[in-house]
Amino acid sequence: MRRIGLYPGSFDPVTNGHVDVIRRAVRLFDELVVAVGRNSLKEPIFTVEERIAHLREVCAGLPTVRVTSFAGLLAEEVRELGAVAVVRGLRAVSDFEWEFQMALMNRELSATCETIFLMPSPEYSFVSSTIIKDIARLHGDISAFVPAPVGRALAERFARS
Ligand code: PNS
Repeated sequence: MRRIGLYPGSFDPVTNGHVDVIRRAVRLFDELVVAVGRNSLKEPIFTVEERIAHLREVCAGLPTVRVTSFAGLLAEEVRELGAVAVVRGLRAVSDFEWEFQMALMNRELSATCETIFLMPSPEYSFVSSTIIKDIARLHGDISAFVPAPVGRALAERFARS
């Protein structure tokens, strides 16, 4: 049986913390589907297509990774893909409460929808897409926290006029 893992997220933009989670998750599944989803609490700065393009560039050296997007419910996507687990990164205890709620709700929506949590390397524990965007918007240096193509895209997006 091919074991498919699904790593969903906003990825607006993908950070080195996300990449760390992807690298850990590829070891656990025959195929890892990295899927850009819609978080109704967030207003993204990059389009779904741009976020997919960033992820594809970043995951180019990982042959078992497939990058895609989904517009509906995560639990539905898991069912359609036949994924054995949803992968989510946990940076700190503060992430846990929300993640726990989502994981249990997803299992309520689809009984076989299991979520596994991977801890990125501690050097990424303070990295979030939201903070990265804030720094980039103010022309701070984010090069240590995001893959190079994302750094370029952010610089372009927030270029001084
Ligand atoms: O990177 P994020 O913003 O934490 O990712 C959140 C995401 C996109 C995985 C989550 O909002 C999601 O699953 N959206 C799809 C809609 C859905 O299923 N909502 C109910 C979740 S319990």
